[in-house]
Formats: sequence, structure tokens, C-alpha cells
Amino acid sequence: MNVMIIGGGGREHVIAKYVAKNPSITKLYALPGNGGISQVAECVNISAEDIDGIVSFGKTHAIDFAIVAPDDPLAMGAVDRLEAEGIKCFGPDRKAAEIESSKIFAKELMTKYHIPTAKYEIFTDTDKALSYAALSDYPIVVKADGLAKGKGVVVAENFQQARDAILSCMKSKTFGKSGERILIEECLRGPEVTVLAFTDGKVIVPMISSMDHKRAYDGNTGPNTGGMGVAAPNFYYTEEIAEQCMKNIFIPTINAMKAEGRTFKGCLYFGLMLTKDGAKVIEYNCRFGDPEAEAVLPLLDGDLLGIMLAVRDERLAEVPVKFRDGASCCVVLASAGYPGKYLTGYPIEFGNIGDFEGVEVFHAGTRLEDGKCVTSGGRVLAVNAVAEDFPAARAKAYEAVKCIDFQGMRYRTDIGAH
Ligand code: AMP
Ligand code: GLY
Repeated sequence: MNVMIIGGGGREHVIAKYVAKNPSITKLYALPGNGGISQVAECVNISAEDIDGIVSFGKTHAIDFAIVAPDDPLAMGAVDRLEAEGIKCFGPDRKAAEIESSKIFAKELMTKYHIPTAKYEIFTDTDKALSYAALSDYPIVVKADGLAKGKGVVVAENFQQARDAILSCMKSKTFGKSGERILIEECLRGPEVTVLAFTDGKVIVPMISSMDHKRAYDGNTGPNTGGMGVAAPNFYYTEEIAEQCMKNIFIPTINAMKAEGRTFKGCLYFGLMLTKDGAKVIEYNCRFGDPEAEAVLPLLDGDLLGIMLAVRDERLAEVPVKFRDGASCCVVLASAGYPGKYLTGYPIEFGNIGDFEGVEVFHAGTRLEDGKCVTSGGRVLAVNAVAEDFPAARAKAYEAVKCIDFQGMRYRTDIGAH
């Protein structure tokens, strides 16, 4: 079977590595891939947003199965286009991907189907949004409707901050069309949990829970990033909470999508907040989280490609989806300056990282230059350690990180500290 993975970050590296274990693969490609992915797949220089290029490559290279991992190609309808050419895909079609690409769609869905979430108002008019913000109790949360590379959410502590966020979306059009409509939400409090789940639209199978660390610096300070590290499972997510989420959130969500004619097939990401009134949805994503995937998939005890094919063919109920006991701690190594401006092209030293059992290094922003791995992004590597419990995984991850070096390397030292 010829398989292609769309994307080129740490998430695509872990997917490529685990999918590659399936013996039925003849050829594995990554578009565009990166320096690490090139160890397990042939990387092809086609961007994840070049849908015409992806479809044409799929046709000329007799691709049987495509795994579309990032949000942008999913929102652009990559799955619809590939399936129309007879190429089976893992990932939702464009209409189902709207659960992430329009926060307003997601909110209206939750309201209609009584899925717990923060109270909200929708605004298309700047003055109305400003008047509402002027009369609000703080903090409030201002969100751009569409995709904004993780930067479209501001938790405003006062009117000044809310005003800046509203004007940046609606007047300065910082996020283009994505910010033409905005949401203003009640600010929820409580621990955050990510639950990734496989679903074929009929059944939903949650994976091990996790905790992303979105802020740049220790102690959850500094600006939001794409994610600086992950603890899995999430300590706050008890079996009792998991049962409630299954009943009140997960099953109602897939049924709601089906009822709306938008059956969701792929990996559905639930960003939850455990409030004193129970778990509420902060956001949905239509794909694996990054770096959550790098911590969760190493705990999967089974055949990732087999599960993905079953999701596509709507026979998920027939395949085993099991996770091993134990825990993951994933530490992201970033370039100096990230999430702001940073420089790239620095050689990466890996030392004796290969000697650490249970440690895997996933490449997020690297490329090969004359056969040497150099930095090419803000988040450069995700180092994940698996061990029998979280403290052991954490100790191992931080020990392993000491082997790695590149100019300006920076990471959080408190992943999983609570
Ligand atoms: P999102 O891009 O929707 O994941 O939002 C980014 C982050 O903003 C989340 O991980 C939360 O920490 C925070 N956030 C979003 N919505 C809310 C809310 N209604 N209440 C409190 N925090 C929120
Ligand atoms: N780590 C957060 C996300 O993938 O959206």
C-alpha cells in the first residue's frame, strides 16, 4: 500500500513513525515532511496548503491512503478533493472540519445540542462588540471566528485589553477573514485537559488524556505558543470525569455532527476545562494536537495505520484500540525568541540520545542541510519519554534533553509539575 502523510511537524513525525510499523506499507511519503521524517518516509517538497499539488502527487504516485494531519489543508477541503479522485483519507471533509475552522459554528452546534461550553455572544459589528465589552465583568475571552495559527484567542483582564483584541481582529484585520466575526466568551476556570479521540462518525474511542502547556515560560507565564510540552495521562482527568465526558460531550458531539449532515471521521480533539460545574468544551480541533500527539501516540499499543483505515471505512468498532499502562512526558525544545521572531539554520547536536530507552525525539522544525540536521522552525524538537509512571517519565525526559544542543535552545523545565 502506498501512503502519504500531509504536513511537516512533530505531529506528522510521530504519525509517520508509528504508521511505518505496519508491514503492508510499500512506500511512505511525507508532503513536505522535515529532517526527522526523512528517516522514515520520503519527503516531497510540496506544501501542506498546496491542495492541487497534493492531489496531483497522489494521482501520479498511485497513493492508496492519505493522512491529512494539519488544520489548514483539512479546512481547505483536501480530503474532499482526494476522495473525489479515489484516494482514501484519514481526516474529516471540509464540512466536518468546520468544527475547528469556525468557532462560531462550533459554539452554535454546542448550544443546539446542549453540549456544555462557556456562555458567549457573536459579533459582526465592531461598535456593538466594543459596547458589550465596556459593560462586561472581567476577565472575558475574545476569539476570532476562523483559523488564526493559534493566536486568535485573548483572555482580556480589562476593557483596554478587550478593546485591543476586538480592534485587532475587526478593524486592523490581523487575521484577515478569520477575524471578521468574533466571539466574546465568559472566562472559565479550572484545569485544562486535551482528549484526542478516534471516530468514524458511528463510534468514538478516546485516547489517553493529556495536558498541553501552551505558555512559553515556566510557571505558565509568557505568551501563548503552539505548545511547549505535554504530560499524559492528565492527572486531573479521573475515570469518573471521563465517563461524564463520554456521556455529555463526546457522544453528543459526534451525533450532533451526523445530524447536521457533517459526519466527522478522523481524530477529534476536545479541549476541555474541568470547572466546578463539570467539564466544558473550550475548543474542538479537527485533528491530532501538536505536541499532544507526540506524547499520546507512543502509548498506543497497536497498529495506528490499521485504526486509521478502519476510521475511514467506518469499521472502528471492529478494531482494537488499546493503550499501554504508564505515562509520557514530552518536552519541546524551541528556538530563542519563539513564539516571537527567531533565527534558523543552526546545527543540532543529538549526543548519545539513542542510548535512552523509551525516549523518542520527534522533529518539529528541522531540515537536512548537506546531510546535517539544522533548525528550521520555532518549535524544533519534541523529546518524549515513556516510563511506568509520570515522575519516572519526567525524570527521563529531562535527562535525555541534556544530550541535545543547538544555538539558542530553550525549553520549559516544569512540564507536568502541578
Ligand atoms: P483556543 O485557541 O480556543 O484553544 O484557546 C487558547 C487558550 O485560551 C485555551 O487553551 C485556554 O487556556 C484559553 N481559553 C479559551 N477560551 C477560554 C474560556 N472561555 N475561558 C478561559 N480560558 C479560555
Ligand atoms: N497543542 C494544541 C493544538 O494542537 O492545537
